[in-house]
Amino acid sequence: MTNLANVSVRKLRIDLGANTVIDDLDLDVRAGEFVVLLGPSGCGKSTLLHSIAGLIDVSDGSIEIGGEDMTWADPKDRGVALVFQSYALYPTMNVERNMSFALRINGTPKPEIERRVKRAADMLQLGPLLARKPAQLSGGQRQRVAIGRALVREADVFLFDEPLSNLDAKLRTELRRELKQLHQQLGATMIYVTHDQVEAMTLATRMAVMKGGVIQQFGTPAEVYARPENLFVATFLGTPPMNLLKGKLEANEGKLWFRGAQLDVDVTNYAFKGAPDLAQPCVLGVRPEDVHATRLGAPGSEGAHQGSVTLVEPMGNHRVLWLDYHGAQIASIDQDKTPLASGAHVPFSIDAAHVSLFDEASGERV
Ligand SMILES: Nc1ncnc2c1ncn2[C@@H]1O[C@H](COP(=O)(O)OP(=O)(O)O)[C@@H](O)[C@H]1O
Ligand SMILES: [Mg+2]
Repeated sequence: MTNLANVSVRKLRIDLGANTVIDDLDLDVRAGEFVVLLGPSGCGKSTLLHSIAGLIDVSDGSIEIGGEDMTWADPKDRGVALVFQSYALYPTMNVERNMSFALRINGTPKPEIERRVKRAADMLQLGPLLARKPAQLSGGQRQRVAIGRALVREADVFLFDEPLSNLDAKLRTELRRELKQLHQQLGATMIYVTHDQVEAMTLATRMAVMKGGVIQQFGTPAEVYARPENLFVATFLGTPPMNLLKGKLEANEGKLWFRGAQLDVDVTNYAFKGAPDLAQPCVLGVRPEDVHATRLGAPGSEGAHQGSVTLVEPMGNHRVLWLDYHGAQIASIDQDKTPLASGAHVPFSIDAAHVSLFDEASGERV
């Protein structure tokens, strides 16, 4: 059976050739967590994951798994199982042989192999496919086999490197749900690499957003989405991304205002991290769903800002309105079905309780 193991990465540095890809990185994954490493291509996600798996030597720092120092342990002694983006199945072996290969190699007794393969096949709905060769499987089925091959190892920690990237959109969302259910059933520790924010948001118990080999923020998806620590995180998450408006803070008659080039927002109740610096240029961020468009003449539309529609993107269960407001492009999300033409005037208000403020120079949340 699977043991629950935490993973602790300390002051990790990894040099690849002349590049320092990761420097002084700390990451704590609790036992049983589903941690997602999210970031753009080339930011070091795979490098970090493969170093935990023992496929890449570390240049400095340490990696602990289940309380044991594994920094220099052989990959097979780490209690980890890795699933890659490319399935890398053995083409001449059927599903059952593919799944049991590693166990046969390491001399696991036959009844035990059968038990584990059956269990994994049941979990992944591969039972009817055990006799098939990889060529007779769809992409989604092949990736299930690759996951099954990791499952039979009954590892303490499962590592996934963009396992769904090669699948079409529909299969990707199906298998994504299956992975989440698998995690709920197994309760095993999982670390999952992706550049897909939807995968990160839906799968993670906590997510680490990475850029340039550095973890920018580590928290629950809800925390990271609602309170991004910097402009990179703010704009990397969300579709469309957070609206950003430049301006300054100004105190006036007991209130604190964000005064932008285009509009002002009352930020008196904003949870500043320190004392607000009124001298520094800042950026106000507001998610499209916190820009509330209404209709002309509707209650609350008086005194609201008047934007003009430049584009409407229907998404089925919601739509994105792109509004021009004195030259600023502001995205608003609503569920209204009333048709809106380009050029239509739309009153909108900004929900001040859900804005973010960043220092313009550093990009850091204030
Ligand atoms: N063998 C290598 N030698 C030198 N640089 C490498 C090597 N492998 C990867 N890199 C560099 O390390 C960085 C991180 O790569 P990687 O971890 O694969 O990123 P990600 O998985 O986030 O897309 C990239 O800039 C990449 O060019
Ligand atoms: Mg990668």
